[in-house]
Amino acid sequence: MKDASPQTIHLADYTPFGWTVRDVHLTVKLSPRATRVVARIHFAPRGDAPAQDFFLHGEELTLLRAAIDGAEVTPEITPQGLTCPVPDGPFLWESEVEIAPADNTALEGLYMSNGMYCTQCEAEGFRKITYYPDRPDVMATFTVRIEGDEPVKLSNGNPADSGAGWAEWHDPWPKPAYLFALVAGDLRNHPGSFTTKSGKEVELNIWVRPGDEGKCAFGMEALKKSMTWDEEVYGREYDLDIFNVVAVDDFNMGAMENKGLNIFNSSCVLASPETSTDANFERIEAIIAHEYFHNWTGNRITCRDWFQLCLKEGLTVYRDSQFTSDMRSAEVKRISDVIALRARQFPEDQGPLAHPVRPESFQEINNFYTATVYEKGAEVIGMLKRLVGDEEYYKALDLYFERHDGDAATIEDWIRVFEDATGRDLSQFKRWYSQAGTPRLSVSEDFSEGTYTLTFRQTTPPTPGQPDKAPQVLPIAVGLLNPNGHEVVPTTVLEMTEAEQSFTFEGLSAKPVPSILRGFSAPVVLERDSAPEERAFLLAHDTDAFNRWESSRDLARDCLVAMVTEGAAPDTAWLDGLERVIRDDTLDPAFRALMMGGPTQSETAQVLHERGHVPDPDAIWDAHESLRQAMAERWQDLLPALAEEARVTEAYRPDAAQSGKRALGSAVLALQTRLDGGKAAEAQFASADNMTLQLSALACLVQAGRDEAALRAFHDQWQDDRLVMDKWFALQIAATTPDKAPERTAALTEHPAFDWTNPNRFRSVLGALAMHHTGFHAKDGRGYKLLADWLIKLDAKNPQTTARMCSAFQTWKRYDADRQALMKAQLERIAARPGLSPDTGEMVSRLLS
Ligand code: BES
Ligand code: ZN
Repeated sequence: MKDASPQTIHLADYTPFGWTVRDVHLTVKLSPRATRVVARIHFAPRGDAPAQDFFLHGEELTLLRAAIDGAEVTPEITPQGLTCPVPDGPFLWESEVEIAPADNTALEGLYMSNGMYCTQCEAEGFRKITYYPDRPDVMATFTVRIEGDEPVKLSNGNPADSGAGWAEWHDPWPKPAYLFALVAGDLRNHPGSFTTKSGKEVELNIWVRPGDEGKCAFGMEALKKSMTWDEEVYGREYDLDIFNVVAVDDFNMGAMENKGLNIFNSSCVLASPETSTDANFERIEAIIAHEYFHNWTGNRITCRDWFQLCLKEGLTVYRDSQFTSDMRSAEVKRISDVIALRARQFPEDQGPLAHPVRPESFQEINNFYTATVYEKGAEVIGMLKRLVGDEEYYKALDLYFERHDGDAATIEDWIRVFEDATGRDLSQFKRWYSQAGTPRLSVSEDFSEGTYTLTFRQTTPPTPGQPDKAPQVLPIAVGLLNPNGHEVVPTTVLEMTEAEQSFTFEGLSAKPVPSILRGFSAPVVLERDSAPEERAFLLAHDTDAFNRWESSRDLARDCLVAMVTEGAAPDTAWLDGLERVIRDDTLDPAFRALMMGGPTQSETAQVLHERGHVPDPDAIWDAHESLRQAMAERWQDLLPALAEEARVTEAYRPDAAQSGKRALGSAVLALQTRLDGGKAAEAQFASADNMTLQLSALACLVQAGRDEAALRAFHDQWQDDRLVMDKWFALQIAATTPDKAPERTAALTEHPAFDWTNPNRFRSVLGALAMHHTGFHAKDGRGYKLLADWLIKLDAKNPQTTARMCSAFQTWKRYDADRQALMKAQLERIAARPGLSPDTGEMVSRLLS
């Protein structure tokens, strides 16, 4: 158990560890409740570190023996680790501990999943395996000997030797302990190989439970594509003889980049057309790429301390989004990323959990793997690239790899590389890493005698602990269209640095229509009261796909706000403009599907809040329903033709072209269901030969309340497939009406297949409730109570997943006084729980502050 009183760690307090570690030798003798870990570690004092006691992290370990240079020692042990007097010079530390992986329900350190041993050491899990300086700036080579009867025994690096009941691995690249991994079990492999551009042969394997062999081919192809892409775009080659990927059913996160041995949540690597949706395939491709790309951005160059987390995560998310843009449609990827940013990061940045991309303090680092560190961290890199240009960006990256290979680096190092490579002063830009909150950007315009002037103003609202904000550097991509809809000024990046700043364009014959913040060139809220006619004009003519989509989204937002607050009817002018885009079969079906999508209900709540209204979830539900109904009725004659266009006749492929068609098809089916009560959906459900079609049909049937038989059939077909059953659980909550959502959730928690200790299953049920906007915010608070009950229950087993899911409450201050009181009461109930984990404790206290 951790100490009950949580400690706050500050970036400003960083001190290096007093010793270097030359190498680590581990012997792990596996046994479910009595695994022995023998460690032999060479330490040498570092002259350049401040004097300190010799302290090794260690949690939930039973120390059996410790020795220094062969002589037994008796360290002083606390719940966090041990201290021990040590010699002045280099010495050999030896220890033997016992641990119980079968009892490890937190899924951090060494644990068991379906009889298989596996590890998760990021951020601070290695200290649950052995005593060690468990901090990312201590890097060492590892040699690992695994002893056990399991047929497959894996660790990092290259295989060194093996015999009956043992296997040895050696990782030649110095690494921090958080990248350590070990896997052992009865696993099957899907093999592959890759030849690097310098001719090195690499053995590839995806390891899975028996029975899952048929779900590996797509992941293997994604891995090879990622390896090629990183060579071609960043010049980065793989650096070991072997690359192993393992699928695990019980995993708190999506996947982990352990050196040479990536471990994946099985939901993020296993795929087949029958069991996975197009969205699953796309996510798997992206996450395989992400973890692979960490080999350079994270592993070869790691973080000095956990405050620098965005150094590896922001950059690697940026790289995986570049990869997806190259593999699929760049425009569709950009729009999807912005949708996700607004859905996840904006609420965080505008609520009680707001923190800078590089936080300055934390209690539990696991709570800072956030949308801000990841997604805003990636946006910051995108802005940097936009400001310096592509060529200078890759020049800076080359310098980064050259200068910092083998280092545990900081954001200061990163910025300096860009300054040195480009000759720019980036001191103001660096504010993006330290200042929390989403800037608001407003615009006014002026036109006289051929000169057009845009004047921008930026302000950032206060966030917890940061009442006063300074102006940020904003790259604002702008294009100008003439009144005929032709582009007269192509995309130009304006560099805004002041609180208020004007930019002029000369030589225009008529007042142009500006297309501002093209490609969402900076993560801000653009406040622009432009006339609906101007938005409709951009919807029809903008050459920038993102802004074309955005202009429709803006009109949709205005329409929904008017429907909610004034009881207005749907905006027919906007629907007409939208219809022209949807009808345009020269446009990518995926893009048209996104255009048909419209804001989610929580986005409408967010917009209402931004505009000074108190969002009423029931009124938002009604407005969305009547808007969707109006769309269905208006486009009644168009839908059959679109459905026909969306039909795929070739064999299933999860590529961008086919997925786009199916996305359009499911948007159409959802509208058709409003007209035919589910007839078309029933037919699609009956004939579907892939999960994308089957699931979208089922969603429509649930929505139409015509789901009993279909849900039963789906259950009977898929009850032995855990990943498909996760969808079965989630869907019937996500697609149902608000009045039924909490009850359905409660009923599903009674289902025999509801294994709540499995994070995927827990999320598929309670996470689906949290994401059902109206259902979660049921007026009497029963949604809040149900979630809180389950968070309390899960916390005793799995603090990390519990703490992450507390963010469902992060928007609580947005709602009416009654709902606020109900949510606050649940947060206080969680906070008051005896024995609450420090992870959840920190989240709840930040939410309440
Ligand atoms: N390094 C993380 C995994 C991780 C996260 C470990 C939190 C420990 C705590 C990994 O690279 C990652 O970022 N995974 C993401 C998916 C990715 C595509 C953004 C995840 O697991 O969700
Ligand atoms: Zn990552």
